[in-house]
Amino acid sequence: MGKLKGKTALITGGSSGIGLATAKLFIEEGATVIITGRDAEKLMSAKASIGEQLIIHQSNASQPDEIENLVSKIKQDHQQLDILFINAGIAKAAPIEFITEELFDEIISANVKGAFFLIKHALPLLNKNASVIVTTSITNKLGCPNFSLYGASKAALRSMVQSLALELISRGIRVNAINPGPIETPIYSKFGVPNDVESAIKEDIERKSPIGRFGRPEEIAKSVLFLATEDSSYLVGEEIVVDGGMSLL
Ligand SMILES: NC(=O)c1ccc[n+]([C@@H]2O[C@H](COP(=O)([O-])OP(=O)(O)OC[C@H]3O[C@@H](n4cnc5c(N)ncnc54)[C@H](OP(=O)(O)O)[C@@H]3O)[C@@H](O)[C@H]2O)c1
Repeated sequence: MGKLKGKTALITGGSSGIGLATAKLFIEEGATVIITGRDAEKLMSAKASIGEQLIIHQSNASQPDEIENLVSKIKQDHQQLDILFINAGIAKAAPIEFITEELFDEIISANVKGAFFLIKHALPLLNKNASVIVTTSITNKLGCPNFSLYGASKAALRSMVQSLALELISRGIRVNAINPGPIETPIYSKFGVPNDVESAIKEDIERKSPIGRFGRPEEIAKSVLFLATEDSSYLVGEEIVVDGGMSLL
């Protein structure tokens, strides 16, 4: 307990799933935690479930102007950040014939563009010794039919983490990635497929998983905590895979 005492953390996409579990753990460890999301109701219910100390900001990670406003507000209220967990992301299942330019832009804006510009704008607020953590996915290396765009967006993030890690380490800022396998979160109900297809995708994952189950968001949060603290002080530009063995197949 208390590993993050006195630290301030921003978690994008903190109103659900992995981000929410991480917000809860960070608060238990003594951090001041700010979360973002697009849906105000979900942000309110995150606050209700975690407690009054959770700070919520409605902010769309795809929109550079909203990112700039978010960073200004954080500067005004908190001056600086010790931990930046860039976790907001979307996944849609679609064969290439159904991928429109609009969908392409939606996924790349939310998953890649938003991450890049948040790091850029938050940089002046990042403390010496700050930790930046980006959520990638095992689809960034595995072939995954119908998730070509999602996988490509996460591969772009993996690459960005490596280059920015080298660019920023001389300032004391460590940039790393957390790479989850299948984790039981609401993201599966947002794939844009009928319920029976969603169930079939989940059954297929469970059948293939070496550990025989989905991961829990709390199991990712523990590795994010490791990346956020001095416990990982020599980790630079790395990606921790937490996937029950899935990517070994
Ligand atoms: N679950 C998995 O199996 C899995 C595996 C590998 C990687 N991941 C990655 O893990 C991250 C978290 O996913 P999750 O599984 O926890 O999903 P989730 O439960 O759907 O949570 C996604 C979070 O991101 C927010 N979000 C989405 N688009 C946003 C935007 N444009 N601006 C701001 N916030 C946005 C959502 O809130 P709003 O909808 O209200 O905006 C929500 O808080 C994602 O990057 C995902 O790609 C998940």
